[in-house]
Amino acid sequence: MKSDSNINLRYAIRGGKPLEGEVEIGGAKNAALAIIAAAIMTDDTVTIENMPDVRDTNVLLDAMAGIGVIIERPDRHTVKINGSMVRNVNIEYELIKKIRASYYLIGALLGKYKEAEVPLPGGCNIGSRPIDQHLKGFRAIGADVKIEHGSIIAKADKLAGAHIYMDVVSVGATINILMASCMAEGKTIIENAAKEPHVVDVANFLNSMGANIKGAGTDVIRIRGVSSLHGATYSVIPDQIEAGTFMFAAAVTGGSILVKNVIPKHLESISAKLIEVGCEIEEFDDCVRVTRRGKLKSTQIKTLPYPGFPTDMQPQAGVTLSLSEGVSTITESIFENRFRYVDEIMKMGANIKVEGNTAIITGTEGLSGANITAPDLRAGAALVLAALAADGVSAIDDIQLIERGYEDFDLKIRGLGGIIEKVSDDRSVKKFRLKYKAG
Ligand code: UD1
Repeated sequence: MKSDSNINLRYAIRGGKPLEGEVEIGGAKNAALAIIAAAIMTDDTVTIENMPDVRDTNVLLDAMAGIGVIIERPDRHTVKINGSMVRNVNIEYELIKKIRASYYLIGALLGKYKEAEVPLPGGCNIGSRPIDQHLKGFRAIGADVKIEHGSIIAKADKLAGAHIYMDVVSVGATINILMASCMAEGKTIIENAAKEPHVVDVANFLNSMGANIKGAGTDVIRIRGVSSLHGATYSVIPDQIEAGTFMFAAAVTGGSILVKNVIPKHLESISAKLIEVGCEIEEFDDCVRVTRRGKLKSTQIKTLPYPGFPTDMQPQAGVTLSLSEGVSTITESIFENRFRYVDEIMKMGANIKVEGNTAIITGTEGLSGANITAPDLRAGAALVLAALAADGVSAIDDIQLIERGYEDFDLKIRGLGGIIEKVSDDRSVKKFRLKYKAG
């Protein structure tokens, strides 16, 4: 598993080359995180395939090993999890505060042991990230929930099904309530549930373990409590956001990429915007090809819960629109702090003005390489795209944030002809610069 030893690594990128070829997409990070947590809800061994080997999933697995969960990794993309030996329901703080998805352990532990104590989650600084809807759900099914000394403490004598109306559409809260309620007595109904592909994937996984969940992927999910869950072998769905990132990479560099191992249905909102900006999309059973031939055109984007345009794709789209003809707007309606790539890409010559939750993007002819910093996971990936499209060399700091969610990002980009190297010090950046100066 990866450690924190590459904390100071950077990407050195020589831009200006269209990305061409094929790329294989891995398992969905956000589905995998919830599935890993849910796997401890049975005492049997669970085998999870198509597991992405990224920092967030590895940190969660390490944290679970810390409470006695037995984890085996027969190969890079397969994990066997056995939760029969969980020693306590109090998770080690240092590891878990790094990732937001630690809160899935509350739903999993509460559902199985009727108690959980988990530190308040960390994760990307993309805005205020309340968890009131999670807590509302736990309380509705009978748990006593309090926040003390930076931890969430949930306990119940017994969990009983309830009718829960979500005030906001929340992926995390929907999944957490699914887990907490699948062994509650009676029937739970979640209204205004999130419909994201990974919500459906977690429901399918729980059902493969013997849960009785119906309606995932719609606004109303019905869960009939079962007395226990059993072992299963399950394959995580492909990562919608990794796929979308490579789709936009074709657009922004003026290339042509066959994005393989995807579910095209999950990519429809992304494909629709790429068509609007002038790309060609070819859809096959489990891959999509994105090709850009002419100039990029402007468009309007508003982020929305699925099936709307994902907030996790907004920075990649923003970077692409900064190179389109005319004026585009992006309205971010999920997280208020998602324009942190703007200051960085302005150093490369982009013309973007942020007013409240809207970015007004006036397209420029070209970007120029610069020294920039990845502010968070998706903004960081977007800046890699900007550097690949820019003229000259860029160095991107803090790439450990990008590695939270992208497996072998540099290798995959190199496989498409992109010039990118992982470097560890200023000297290596200088060497890279000298090597690629002339193009
Ligand atoms: C998940 C994803 C994240 C993605 C987001 C939206 C993981 C680990 N992360 O985050 O990459 O950007 O979905 O698709 O899967 N909210 C509340 N109260 C709550 C919960 C959420 O008000 O209790 C609000 C949030 O502030 C936000 C909106 O609901 O405005 C959506 O958040 P949510 O879907 O919960 O995002 P996460 O599950 O945290």
